[in-house]
Amino acid sequence: MKWNADLYDDKHSFVSQFGASVVELLNVKPGEHILDIGCGTGDLTHQIQQLGADVSGTDYSAEMIAQARFKYPTINFEVADAASFTVEYPYDAVFSNAALHWVHNAGGVIKSVYEALKPGGRFVAEMGGKGNIGRLRAAIKQVLQQHGYHQQAETQVWYFPSLGEYSSLLERQGFRVTFASHFDRKTPLQDGNQGVAKWIKMFGAQYFTGVSDAVQLQLVQEITDLLEPHYNENGQWYADYKRLRFIAIKE
Ligand code: BEZ
Repeated sequence: MKWNADLYDDKHSFVSQFGASVVELLNVKPGEHILDIGCGTGDLTHQIQQLGADVSGTDYSAEMIAQARFKYPTINFEVADAASFTVEYPYDAVFSNAALHWVHNAGGVIKSVYEALKPGGRFVAEMGGKGNIGRLRAAIKQVLQQHGYHQQAETQVWYFPSLGEYSSLLERQGFRVTFASHFDRKTPLQDGNQGVAKWIKMFGAQYFTGVSDAVQLQLVQEITDLLEPHYNENGQWYADYKRLRFIAIKE
């Protein structure tokens, strides 16, 4: 999938705003060697740098990395696959915010992170958890099916694991999970009744492969109508995000 890094920065800056509290969970100590995987356009990588860490960022998207390099030229950013990366020197911590739900190969991520850490190093992350944007996904599926787009309706765009599932994978790899939480976080959408359409354009385009622009416009309107009773609170629209956060230590 191709990312629009400008739209991401302009309309979806809440991703890094909410991520700030994940940075707190990371509890950076000055001088630590930290890797931010799925760093997007680098805002949180930069925050981690400002806390005194020697930080690098990676992302699967070349567009995101180009933007990150442009915004933060003193940070080392590289294109890499979170499910199959290797590092030259082991890190004190690996961090990730709002990225790992794009990677279906969770075992590959967890193995790569484990091997990238020093013994005692930590993996601190937040991602979409089980049930994340459940109403949005159900509405997309319903509308695609109603219009005969059965294959598109079955598209598995994201991986949203339960706490038990992801903790088990971490433990199987040899991590000790010292903290894990699966919680609701209603997330504001910008631009009122256009918010769902903009969110889908940015993140959910894969569902509409092979659907013409004109039809897509109509389907997205129907999806918005289905969501309105749940998402529109007096003109402010919210998506039903559910987050999974954890700290796992390499033993
Ligand atoms: C999330 O942060 O939960 C998310 C973002 C984009 C697409 C899907 C989920």
